[in-house]
Amino acid sequence: MTKATPNTNGDRGHSAGCSTDLLHLLNAFENTSIDSEIERSQLISAATTFLARLQSPWETIRRHLVDSPAVQLSLKVCMDLELFRKWKDAGNGDKTAAELAQLTGCDEELLQRFLRHLAVEHLLAEVAPGTYAQTEFTLAMCTPHFGAWPQYMHETVLDTWKAMPKVLADRGYKNDSLTVIDGAFQVATHTTGQSIFDYFASHPGQAKTFNNAMTGYGAERCSWLDIFPSTNLLENVVEGPLLVDVGGSIGHDVEKFRKRHPDKASRLVLQDLPAVVGDAICGDQVQVMPHNFFEPQPVRHARAYYLHSVLHDWPDANALQILENLKPAMKHGYSKLLLNEIVVLDKISTSSPQVTSFDLAMMGLCAAQERTELM
Ligand SMILES: C[S@@+](CC[C@H](N)C(=O)[O-])C[C@H]1O[C@@H](n2cnc3c(N)ncnc32)[C@H](O)[C@@H]1O
Repeated sequence: MTKATPNTNGDRGHSAGCSTDLLHLLNAFENTSIDSEIERSQLISAATTFLARLQSPWETIRRHLVDSPAVQLSLKVCMDLELFRKWKDAGNGDKTAAELAQLTGCDEELLQRFLRHLAVEHLLAEVAPGTYAQTEFTLAMCTPHFGAWPQYMHETVLDTWKAMPKVLADRGYKNDSLTVIDGAFQVATHTTGQSIFDYFASHPGQAKTFNNAMTGYGAERCSWLDIFPSTNLLENVVEGPLLVDVGGSIGHDVEKFRKRHPDKASRLVLQDLPAVVGDAICGDQVQVMPHNFFEPQPVRHARAYYLHSVLHDWPDANALQILENLKPAMKHGYSKLLLNEIVVLDKISTSSPQVTSFDLAMMGLCAAQERTELM
């Protein structure tokens, strides 16, 4: 491939030296031709690496620092207008910007500017100039669990990240200078002496958005039961509780187990803070139990205690305390401890950026981190 030279827009013109075969392959690519999740993630990784190699420094600046934040803004405004949901309710057909403006009560010229950016980023389809169609992505935004993400990022994460550089500078760039009750989140929210979860307890709307976002986080990843087969818990099992989902949010993981083994529903326990389990989505027979995991575990001798994305919310001392509280409840030689967490690989460039961006989010929101296998 020959080196690209800048064109009159200041962008690099790549077409002259670009392999026509590659262009043909990329243009002909259909998502439906992928056989497995592994193959899909390999393709995403290759495409991301390809883009990073292909783009000039300016294009890279623009993609990450200008274009992506503009997507966040456009999505947030469209979600506030309930655009995608109203569009779906109105039959989901192709619509002009004028029709979408009428549907949402937004000024046409204003709305068009956000629609254009979503279309140029291929989140919305442009079927003719100024006429749009919904995509798989915008339809996903109509679900509570994916639709929560623009709001969650806007109200909980972005202000924290905005505060973080100064907080870190003020504290001399020490990795342990942030604490659960005195970190970037507390600076961003002008609060002191309480963790993000204490904060959520007094901000129910924000907490609900967070809980929905957590459901979305797990919705498309392979089920935990495909990593840890449920049959492992059913062999040599005695009477009594089968699974306790500790810090299980509104119950999306317990629900996956219940759906696979409906006959075991009454032996499943969902635990989280009172306000969270109040919104539980799991079937009637599941035992829903408010429980603070900084207190001793009340359900004794369960076959398994399961913690998903719980320890990554806490610094080591708190994480150890959560585990210590489980120990007396576990039956020696019978109870299992199941930890479902992101693992940071030694060769990080082979991971998804999700690993590292979540790690930075944990730093800002909870003074915590994603961990390596040995940590
Ligand atoms: C990152 S979320 C993970 C939720 C769920 N396990 C999942 O994978 O989606 C962490 C959960 O821990 C819960 N949590 C925080 N502090 C808690 C406490 N002291 N006792 C019990 N649950 C708590 C939160 O309410 C939240 O649902």
